[in-house]
Amino acid sequence: MQWIPIHVLASLVVWLQLPSTVLSQYVIDDSRGVGRQFDGIGGLSGGSATSKLLIGYPQKQRDEILDYLFKPSFGASLQILKVEIGGDAQASDATEASHMHVPWEENYERGYEWWLMKEAKKRNPQIKLYGLPWAFPGWIGNGTQNPYINRELLADYIYRWINGAKVQHNLDIDYIGIWNERYCDTEYLKILRKTLDKKGYYQTSIVASDNWFDPKVTGDTSVVAAFDVLGAHYPGVVSPEVVKQLGKKLWSSEDYSTFNDDVGGGCWARILNQNYESGLMTSTIAWNLIDSFYQGLPWDRTSLMTARQPWSGYYSVESPIWMSAHTTQFTEIGWSYLPHGLGVGALEQGGSYVSLTSPDHKDLTIVIEKMSHDHSPCIRPALPPYTVANENATIQLEGSFAGVTALYVWQSVLRFDSGASSTYFLDMGSVPVINGKVTVAIGVDQVLTLTTVPTGTHGTYDAPPPPAAFPLPFFEDFEKYPLSAEPFSLAPQQGSFDVVNVGGTYGKVMRQMVLQPPIAWCQETLYFNSSLNLLGRFNWTDVEVQVDVKVGQTNGSNGVFIGVRIDNGGCQTYVAKGLFFFIFPNDNIYLLASDIQGKNVLTSGREKVAIVSDWNHLTLTVQGQTVTGSCNNQQLFSMQVPNVNANGFVGLGTDVYGYADFDNFRVDNSSTSKVVGKPDTLYFVEEDMEIVESFKTPN
Ligand SMILES: *[C@@H]1O[C@H](CO)[C@@H](O)[C@H](O)[C@H]1NC(C)=O
Ligand SMILES: *[C@@H]1O[C@H](CO)[C@@H](O)[C@H](O)[C@H]1NC(C)=O
Ligand SMILES: *[C@@H]1O[C@H](CO)[C@@H](O)[C@H](O)[C@H]1NC(C)=O
Ligand SMILES: *[C@@H]1O[C@H](CO)[C@@H](O)[C@H](O)[C@H]1NC(C)=O
Ligand SMILES: *[C@@H]1O[C@H](CO)[C@@H](O)[C@H](O)[C@H]1NC(C)=O
Ligand SMILES: *[C@@H]1O[C@H](CO)[C@@H](O)[C@H](O)[C@H]1NC(C)=O
Repeated sequence: MQWIPIHVLASLVVWLQLPSTVLSQYVIDDSRGVGRQFDGIGGLSGGSATSKLLIGYPQKQRDEILDYLFKPSFGASLQILKVEIGGDAQASDATEASHMHVPWEENYERGYEWWLMKEAKKRNPQIKLYGLPWAFPGWIGNGTQNPYINRELLADYIYRWINGAKVQHNLDIDYIGIWNERYCDTEYLKILRKTLDKKGYYQTSIVASDNWFDPKVTGDTSVVAAFDVLGAHYPGVVSPEVVKQLGKKLWSSEDYSTFNDDVGGGCWARILNQNYESGLMTSTIAWNLIDSFYQGLPWDRTSLMTARQPWSGYYSVESPIWMSAHTTQFTEIGWSYLPHGLGVGALEQGGSYVSLTSPDHKDLTIVIEKMSHDHSPCIRPALPPYTVANENATIQLEGSFAGVTALYVWQSVLRFDSGASSTYFLDMGSVPVINGKVTVAIGVDQVLTLTTVPTGTHGTYDAPPPPAAFPLPFFEDFEKYPLSAEPFSLAPQQGSFDVVNVGGTYGKVMRQMVLQPPIAWCQETLYFNSSLNLLGRFNWTDVEVQVDVKVGQTNGSNGVFIGVRIDNGGCQTYVAKGLFFFIFPNDNIYLLASDIQGKNVLTSGREKVAIVSDWNHLTLTVQGQTVTGSCNNQQLFSMQVPNVNANGFVGLGTDVYGYADFDNFRVDNSSTSKVVGKPDTLYFVEEDMEIVESFKTPN
């Protein structure tokens, strides 16, 4: 007898008998062995700074978000977390801090990737960790843009990151990459392997080359011996025949990057199956894990989920979370795919199926996707045309699975008709398997999981607080951060900013740390040497910004600036327009420009009394087309600026790389009267961190 579920109501399953003639048939059988080992589904934090705002969320919502990403049998239940090894340079949405800004120091407390890796491990001790650099601090290249100029030095720098993870955070780094989407130096690859072995990190596997299936990497046996995984980016579910024969694990080590609506979900569901079915890739990793960067920066919502409002606590669990769950909740790293034709293949009417089994062959998971062409393109590469149609299929279980009597069914239905709403990862109960046979209806734009694993859960928390605009006034004195922290609410676009303690009345301040141009990932960042750290909303109009600033006495920048109505970040930071108020304290000079490079000067002057070489208090106010600037409460300019941007971010930075300190950073709404009274404060408590005050309003 053959049976088919018909979904009459959302949760009601009815089984009807069907004539077998209209059925396609698929055999699931392990008696002729298995296919490749499954290495897990992952998310990529960084590349860059895509998780930036997450750490600043209120603890309750932050824990919920982390559960949706990492908690087993709950949400995406990710099996790999890939992170950026910060290189002090812009890589798409912000810079991430290096563990060695300069060769004479090392620090493993910067940024948020350490924190994120620990939160992931806390939820899933089995999760694998993978580090990859996008950029490097300038000293690695001895002033050039070539990180391989001294390969031993680079290998040592990467080893230190792996060792810092272990020693400071008890994190084992399972995989390490070479240089994201850039030249892979095979001599360096071999030296990195030797260095890690010499230091006892045999267990850390090398992924090459995080770009494409590079013949230079795959064609030389001494190179092939040095790495464990061949990782390609955006392979479009295809890998060349020659690399399939290489005897190495093949991964799609960066993929997805697609807007996270249901088409993004369709993309993700399709490639999770087809990267193996077609390309024999045993892991797929999404860039990016979570959209936790300011709206208005590039690559809006190309993320598994969205959480970019730490001030309100609002977040949104998007469809790719549930597409991940279809595989991750019913498999583990170390399971095996079944052979092609015996559990893996294309569906007769379009779409694909993959089957995986546990090492003891007791458990079986079958994931079926039938994504239509127009509802599942990823951002790249172009998706060749194909057609899909509904089909009823009989699945025949043989080998170790012949005795299975029931399978749990989980279903997602993506609906694109206006007014129809999609359903994600619904628990459809279990279906009987009779004489090894089960029949299922596979609809277009659906994902089905059939599994012996009973622990699937559509994890749910109460709705988060509603979205809200970034609140003003904003005030930050950096006192509550641990040393070396990167302040939660500021998003560095160029340069890197750490909390340091200068003592005295200023106490903890935020210091720009980069002293020379980094080895870039975005080539555009080489067009200028300013640093920039953004805050707030991409469409703030009338604001007043105040900050205390001091350039470093040794290795200092020349000037510092505050800016309003800044319209660009990411790799395009160099063309940012807005209103930028610079001072050059050692020369007592000020300057107002409409571009970050200070080329289009609106006014400038020299004020020996107003501008001092020690701390200066800057105020920049914009209201409509009127801009006013003062230093130490002495007005330097007040003028009309007819062609300025109508709105944008607030920011601060330095004119060139070099140390500069910032404190008591305050943003008010310049069109309303100032708020007075007690600060309205949100506290985020960390077990292993002192109390951190992230978003608060001033006295
Ligand atoms: C770095 O470059 C300078 C010249 O710019 C050279 O004198 C020096 O030897 C180089 N250092 C290393 C370690 O390569
Ligand atoms: C699948 O079976 C159902 C129930 O008999 C039937 O209504 C439907 O038309 C079938 N679909 C296809 C594509 O054959
Ligand atoms: C940036 O600084 C480097 C080294 O200090 C210098 O070689 C380069 O010309 C500078 N770039 C620009 C655009 O000024
Ligand atoms: C600013 O952007 C937010 C978020 O998109 C939007 O809700 C708000 O209306 C915008 N405000 C202005 C003044 O454009
Ligand atoms: C300032 O306040 C006014 C009046 O409440 C409001 O319309 C405007 O959006 C606010 N501007 C900012 C930048 O918050
Ligand atoms: C300034 O930079 C030089 C190298 O250019 C370094 O030797 C020195 O230690 C630095 N001083 C400080 C205070 O960072």
